[in-house]
Amino acid sequence: LPTALAAIVIGYLLGSIPFGLLLTRMAGLGDVRKIGSGNIGATNVLRTGNKPLAAATLLLDALKGTAVVLIVSHFFGEDAGVLAGFAAFIGHIFPVWIGFKGGKGVATYLGILLGLAPLMALIFAIIWLAIAFTTRYSSLSALVATLVIPVALWILGADKIAAAMAVMTIVSWYKHKANIIRLTAGTESKIGAKV
Ligand code: G3P
Repeated sequence: LPTALAAIVIGYLLGSIPFGLLLTRMAGLGDVRKIGSGNIGATNVLRTGNKPLAAATLLLDALKGTAVVLIVSHFFGEDAGVLAGFAAFIGHIFPVWIGFKGGKGVATYLGILLGLAPLMALIFAIIWLAIAFTTRYSSLSALVATLVIPVALWILGADKIAAAMAVMTIVSWYKHKANIIRLTAGTESKIGAKV
């Protein structure tokens, strides 16, 4: 139990760092929650027009997930790593520091996957990029990629990781509910569109 508790606490604390919010604030761009979709993720940071900052948000939100998985697996074993990754995801989505109103989890999902099953992270990236290039919808790309991953993991027999990623997919889909409504209505904003 102490191991599980340590995994959860480390995961949650690192996962809950809202890099998009911090970086945009530090860059003097104001509150990213007041523009575009109101989300604190890389896609919405891109709507400020600052591409390097959006890239940094994507990278840091992803790498915090990877770091949590690798650090905790190294010290406490793979099961603890999965648990910690899950806790990091929950931390990103529900950060105590900003009223539990965090991001939609896509970058962190990818980062956790990179730590747990690197080849699957590559597949995620390929699916995301393919859909983003053809449709220019960041949300749709994420919805499809997060749907494929747990199924692929399950087919490959990585049951524990598949189960953890499946729950993360459900939470991320729930956080995308406004995006799903806009996608069906044809009003979702495209990558690169003016806000
Ligand atoms: O990564 C989140 C993305 O899927 C949607 O972001 O800002 O368009 O709601 P946003």
